[in-house]
Amino acid sequence: MNNVKKLVRPSIATLKGYSSARDEFTGMEGVFLDANENPFGNLNRYPDPYQRQLKRQIAQLKHVSEENLFIGNGSDEIIDITFRVFCEPQKDKAVILIPTYGMYEVSAAINNIELIKVPLTADFDIDLSATKKALASEDAKLLILCSPNNPTGNLLNRGAMREIIETFNGIVLIDEAYIDFSDEISCNTWLKEYPNIIIIQTLSKAYGLASARVGIGYASQEIIHYFNKVKPPYNVSGLNQAAAIKALVDNETYLSQKEMILSERQKLRTALDKNPLVLKQYPSVTNFILAKVTDAKVIYNALTNKKIIVRNRSTQIKNCLRFSIGTPDENAQLIQALNNLSI
Ligand SMILES: Cc1ncc(COP(=O)(O)O)c(C=O)c1O
Repeated sequence: MNNVKKLVRPSIATLKGYSSARDEFTGMEGVFLDANENPFGNLNRYPDPYQRQLKRQIAQLKHVSEENLFIGNGSDEIIDITFRVFCEPQKDKAVILIPTYGMYEVSAAINNIELIKVPLTADFDIDLSATKKALASEDAKLLILCSPNNPTGNLLNRGAMREIIETFNGIVLIDEAYIDFSDEISCNTWLKEYPNIIIIQTLSKAYGLASARVGIGYASQEIIHYFNKVKPPYNVSGLNQAAAIKALVDNETYLSQKEMILSERQKLRTALDKNPLVLKQYPSVTNFILAKVTDAKVIYNALTNKKIIVRNRSTQIKNCLRFSIGTPDENAQLIQALNNLSI
């Protein structure tokens, strides 16, 4: 573990962040003639740059302190900001465990950061010795762990995660986009133990707000301070902050949708088990199933012709398709289409 300040890019450590009008005054009361806004209308004011009301709601729900929260325009933005805060272009390196979420590679490339890709084991868990070896490489600054992992659907071993966090002298970003579907508790409970971790979650999956672009980051106050300097001042719109608060308050909808998705996942699993085109299904604690099929390209094209769009993950894992869990009707259409494919 390390002093976080030493890990921040020097230009970010010394950066004086933009001070927006709403940084100085919150815009709740008074005559506001400071932000060149139009005085008329309902959406005429800039939103809270620090999303305080939303953070209050999340802090309460997730049992964390507001000071340890960062809200991104989707968790994708938090991934990008992590690179920008900690990784010096053309110098520092980041480590990812493949196969995993494709955006890490894109974000690294945008930021001109070399990636070290370490394969997961055959059952898609952490290969401890290979990962440690990669992290020992000079200039390895950031490790990204995706748990539950996309596109494989499984959780990574917690003991191995801890061992790595405890020995790595860099930042560990833990992506928990799908944690709400699993029974596992969040790694945000590790925040007090490890100053070098960042946990990200999203409202795009279990909370059904992919369109609103709201991602949650949990980290030390020090890391949040750097993130706030780097983010665009008004990175989450007022409409989307309000939509997020509404979704978080409505626990009943959240729970009933989640229950439906999980029971539909079981139904799909049973149907895929019976289908001769499906050779293997991987265990999933998420809202999708990864399956090895006889010929992913042929099956993918045949489904697309029937206007059923799934994800072909064969470039990452040979002959594998990823099925998101849809509504009961959508899943029934998928099952029927798969059962009727004449290939
Ligand atoms: C593992 C993982 N992380 C992050 C994201 C991005 O989510 P968001 O909508 O919050 O940007 C996704 C989206 O599919 C994902 O699968």
